[in-house]
Amino acid sequence: MTTMTRTKIAQTLKEDGLSGVARRVHAGLIFRYHETFNSRFDTIHAIDTRTSVALETLDFEHQHKAHAIDYEPTPIKLVEALLKPSRARASSTTFLDLGCGKGRVLIKAAELGFDRLIGVEFAGEIAEAARYNLGQVFRSSPGISWTIISQDAATYSPPESDLIVFLYNPFTQPVMEGVVNWIEAHIDRGYRVEIIYYNSQCRSLFDDCNRLKVTPFPWLVKLQLRFLSWHAAVKYLSVAGDRNESYRGTERQV
Ligand SMILES: C[S@@+](CC[C@H](N)C(=O)[O-])C[C@H]1O[C@@H](n2cnc3c(N)ncnc32)[C@H](O)[C@@H]1O
Repeated sequence: MTTMTRTKIAQTLKEDGLSGVARRVHAGLIFRYHETFNSRFDTIHAIDTRTSVALETLDFEHQHKAHAIDYEPTPIKLVEALLKPSRARASSTTFLDLGCGKGRVLIKAAELGFDRLIGVEFAGEIAEAARYNLGQVFRSSPGISWTIISQDAATYSPPESDLIVFLYNPFTQPVMEGVVNWIEAHIDRGYRVEIIYYNSQCRSLFDDCNRLKVTPFPWLVKLQLRFLSWHAAVKYLSVAGDRNESYRGTERQV
C-alpha cells in the first residue's frame, strides 16, 4: 500500500468512519471487477463498447437531446445476470434495447440465445458504432437477425411480436412517457411484453401502468445486483387486460 493510499484511507476514516471506508473499498472492487470483464468482452470481439460518449460532444440536433442520457454501457456481467432468467423465451420473442448505444447488450443477448435483435438509438454516430460492432460480431452468424434503427425511442413502432425490452436509464420522463404509451398499445394488441429496466429512474411511469406488473428477479440476480451494482433494476411483465384476455402466439400465459 502506498503512502498516498494510506493517507487517503486515514482521511476517509476521519471524515466518514469505518463504514465510509468499507463503502469506498467495495466501490473500487466492483469497478475493477467490471473493468476486467468489460475489456475482455471487447477484446474477444475486437470491438469497442467500453468508451463512454457525452452526447454534447456530438454534432446533432434533436428535440429530445436534452432528455437523453449519455452513452455509458451496462457492465457485461450485469447484462448477463439480468437477461439469463429470460432465456427460455429467446426463440419466441424479439429482443429490443431502447437507447442501445454501441450494441453491447444486443451482442450479449445473442450469446444467451436471442436471435431477433433490435436496437433503437437516436444519436447517428453511436448508432453507426453499433452497426459496425454487430456487423463484426455477427458476420458469420446467418441465424441472427439484427437491426439498428436510428430513431427516437418515444415514437418507435415495435414489430408484431412478443418483446423483451431492455432499458438502461436511457432518457428522462418526457421520452419515457412515449415509450410507455406504445408498450401499452402493443400489449393491448395481444402481445406479451417483458421489460428489464436497469437504473430505473422513471419507474413510477411503469408502476402506474395497469398493463404491467412487477415480477421479481431470482434470488441469485438480486444478490448480484446487491453486491456488484451501483444501481437498482426492476422487471415487469405484461398482464392481459379487458380487451386482451389471452396472448397471441404460443405463449399464452403470464
Ligand atoms: C445509458 S446509455 C445505454 C446504452 C445501452 N443500452 C447499454 O445498456 O449498454 C443510453 C443511450 O440511449 C440513447 N438515447 C437517449 N435518448 C434517446 C432517445 N430519445 N431515443 C433513442 N435513443 C436514445 C443515448 O444516445 C445512449 O446511447
